[in-house]
Amino acid sequence: MLKHLTTLASLLFALAATPVAAEDIKAGKKVFKKCKACHTVKPEKHKVGPSLHGILGKAAGSAEGYKSSPALSASGIVWDTESMTAFLKDPKGTIPGNKMSFGGLKKDDEIVNLIAYIKAESEE
Ligand code: HEC
Repeated sequence: MLKHLTTLASLLFALAATPVAAEDIKAGKKVFKKCKACHTVKPEKHKVGPSLHGILGKAAGSAEGYKSSPALSASGIVWDTESMTAFLKDPKGTIPGNKMSFGGLKKDDEIVNLIAYIKAESEE
């Protein structure tokens, strides 16, 4: 039993230590095509929607120089992998009254890759 636990622990450690694969970021760039009409990943470059540069860790609706809807700014959400995943699956259901006209992404791996891409672009 103890041996199994040790194996499990080292496996989990290995998983946690694995950096985001370049393939995931590349795949995420493709998924971002669905967002491109309205968003950029360049700092403070807003389109119909706010720039997504450095969005992870920020409070929802706090983009400077962009007029976010009251629904978004008052949502109390801080963007992390979990809240972003929920929002991208169902933008209107997660934050009722927000003004993003996007149906949502269905596949979990698309969302994982997309978040990896946004994170990678935010580091530049
Ligand atoms: C048709 C235009 C459109 C598309 C397509 C779109 N968005 Fe948006 N998005 C918006 C608008 C407009 C807002 C601002 C919503 C508000 O203020 O209520 C927004 C807001 C957001 C926010 C919250 C930003 C903040 O400052 O809190 C995130 C995150 C986001 N979008 C991610 C995405 C991603 C990722 C995609 C692609 C899968 C996407 N959006 C596709 C228009 C769009």
